[in-house]
Amino acid sequence: MTDQYSVLGDAPKDSDLKKLSSKDTHLTISNLSAGYGKMEILHNFDLFVSKAQSLCLIGPNGAGKSTILHSIYGFTNIFSGKIQIDGKEITNLSPAEKLKNVGIAYILQDNSVFPDMTVEENLLMGGYIKDKVEESYEEAEKIFQKYDRLRNRRNQPAKVLSGGERRLLEISRALVMKPSVLLVDEPSIGLEPRYIQMVFEILHDLQKNEKKTIILVEQNAKKGLEFADIGYVLVSGQTAIAGTGDDLLKNPDVGRLFLGG
Ligand SMILES: Nc1ncnc2c1ncn2[C@@H]1O[C@H](COP(=O)(O)OP(=O)(O)OP(=O)(O)O)[C@@H](O)[C@H]1O
Ligand SMILES: [Mg+2]
Repeated sequence: MTDQYSVLGDAPKDSDLKKLSSKDTHLTISNLSAGYGKMEILHNFDLFVSKAQSLCLIGPNGAGKSTILHSIYGFTNIFSGKIQIDGKEITNLSPAEKLKNVGIAYILQDNSVFPDMTVEENLLMGGYIKDKVEESYEEAEKIFQKYDRLRNRRNQPAKVLSGGERRLLEISRALVMKPSVLLVDEPSIGLEPRYIQMVFEILHDLQKNEKKTIILVEQNAKKGLEFADIGYVLVSGQTAIAGTGDDLLKNPDVGRLFLGG
């Protein structure tokens, strides 16, 4: 019987990972060891993602999926290795610098909207770090033009939004900074099925039409892999299997371990 750990046996090499994102590489992680305090969670981890490509991380609880997003954004201790964007090293920049100067946004979830503030005020919070407040208004206006679900409620307190609309607001708030990379941790969590579909459609639009690079963690492996161009299966802080989303959906190990097949 194969368990989650024995799939580590023939882990993909970085040359295999590179092939999955060989065109117009946007963000790379090389040989990264990182964790919390002195505890190392990620071990010699590599990742490659091209501009306007989507990558989904799946794997068991505690595998280190969120820690990868945290490391990219600057929330972990990095012991060794490198993170680069368009060939420029960003390993040790703070989250504020990543957001403001590098164009990486981390989408906060778990009810991160402020319920008593209006939808518009919540959206403008996404630009709190900008030097010019007018820019936040301009971006918020574009977002309202695009999403009538938010526009129709712009002056109402965010607590009136449905679960799906709230998730849309959380994503939109990150867009105020016009990021090129979106880090998205479990966008489907806690949502009814009809809203899960909506959230993936929104992400799809952002990737295809606005050319955002998306790195996504998804507990719902099937949905995540159907959405993403490529996927990595993370086990104990290392990539055990990598492939296109379609290949992983067909992979018997992935099927048995993560798709309930
Ligand atoms: N802030 C933290 N401080 C200390 N340890 C942490 C912290 N966050 C996560 N860990 C530990 O790091 C390991 C990896 O956690 P991580 O959250 O990255 O896993 P995950 O793959 O996202 O899991 P899940 O599917 O449950 O979200 C776990 O052992 C966890 O206990
Ligand atoms: Mg997690």
